Amino acid sequence: MSTAPFDPLDPHRPVAHLRPPRNWINDPNGLAFHDGYYHVCYQYNPHGTRHENMHWGHFRSPDLLSWEPLPLALAPTAGGEDADGCFSGNAVSDGDRLIAFYSALRQDRWYQPVTTATSRDGGRTFRPRGGLVIPEPPDGCTMYRDPYVWRDGARWRMLVGAALADGRGAALLYESPDLETWTYRGPFCAGTSQPVGSDDRDTGEGWECPQYLPAASGHGALIYSAWDDHDGPSCSVALTGHETGDVFEPGAPVLLDHGPDCYAPALMRAPGSRWLLWGWSWEARDEDWAAQDGWAGTLTLPREISLADDGSLHQLPASELLALRGDHSVHAEGRTTGADPVELGEVGRSFDLTARLDTSGEAGLRLVTAADGSEYLDIRLDPATGHLVVDRDRASRDGRARGGSHRMPCPADRPVDLRVVVDHSIAEIFLTSTGQVLTLRFYPTGADLWRLQARSAPGAGLGYAVDAWELLSLVVKAPSGDAALPERRSA
Ligand code: FRU
Repeated sequence: MSTAPFDPLDPHRPVAHLRPPRNWINDPNGLAFHDGYYHVCYQYNPHGTRHENMHWGHFRSPDLLSWEPLPLALAPTAGGEDADGCFSGNAVSDGDRLIAFYSALRQDRWYQPVTTATSRDGGRTFRPRGGLVIPEPPDGCTMYRDPYVWRDGARWRMLVGAALADGRGAALLYESPDLETWTYRGPFCAGTSQPVGSDDRDTGEGWECPQYLPAASGHGALIYSAWDDHDGPSCSVALTGHETGDVFEPGAPVLLDHGPDCYAPALMRAPGSRWLLWGWSWEARDEDWAAQDGWAGTLTLPREISLADDGSLHQLPASELLALRGDHSVHAEGRTTGADPVELGEVGRSFDLTARLDTSGEAGLRLVTAADGSEYLDIRLDPATGHLVVDRDRASRDGRARGGSHRMPCPADRPVDLRVVVDHSIAEIFLTSTGQVLTLRFYPTGADLWRLQARSAPGAGLGYAVDAWELLSLVVKAPSGDAALPERRSA
């Protein structure tokens, strides 16, 4: 069990990203708009910084900016079907009730069947149904968990993540008239593992946390997290396509997030036909380091996600987050051709940046996090291969942080518009023209003010226009009966 106290000055703790003060979190769960609030639950170990003892923690917000921790939504029931943990799932509102569907963990079963718990008091308390709504997987599964329920006209539908004995990953489809009696309809979609993205990843042997965004005329997007028995979780994948009967016909798989550190993204159907998405950003540092700091994992920013007519998915930070912009700390425009970097200005450890970059050769932005320039995160364009490259090899002088560089496709025939949100140890880099995103964690050790630089390879030439704002912290109300999370503005 972690005994690390809550340290409000922890340099790596995000301030504008949602997570509880202490302990381990993973997947966002139970995302629903209910009773006038956005409800966000998450996989939570209330006793330590490792993945065990899974409960559902719970926040709600009227506006995505101020959040109120509610009591734990779900806890394992001694001797019950979820005796060893309440694994992932979602929640639906039917007006009066908020009904959570989740995976019931018992160590003596290889699968995690579906059960529910219901709240009739706006999510303050949930009453477990007891027993299971789907007691067993269909034949031919080797992994089975993570229900996702949505309303489709008069009926309810559910996907459950699976690995099949024939080697395919799958999202299995069920249907119900009343949220209680479920009929199995077969695989909604299934596929063998194949390469996806630019960085040596694949679509997985098992599909965790399937999510479905239905759009007009039978079109839709199926999102899932690629997993295999040997290496565990790897990346999040999106399939766009259309439904024919009970089967989803997908186009080619793409990465939902091109970074190394976004997994188990989950959807919320929000008012105004809006879809929001949160992911889990895991730690990219030694477990012991996280244990010493007393916390591990954060949710990503809430993102608006939409399916364009050409079948591509676009993500951008939810527009509400513009209200977190504080001081306008950097405004710089110009051109550099040379060997020397151009200093653009100083930023805090939490900032929101827009940039237009125009180059025909290797060029980009460097976030320098130590005065002597020895520690930095590089974001650069590589027009020759048509990628945006994010390199964290020198982003921490602490050898316990992961390095490596990561790429996302980026059109090379026009200026590139970026939105970059950096919050202490998480960077979410959006290509605003294509709606693609890359999430990664990094752990600077420099105590100095951070600096932005524009750089170009000799002969490349870079035109830039950069604006950065201080990113203010979310307002998180003190939880009742627990240690208060102090309100804090960014450093
Ligand atoms: C994904 C996942 C889910 C599971 C949960 C357990 O990260 O492995 O498949 O339900 O986390 O915490």
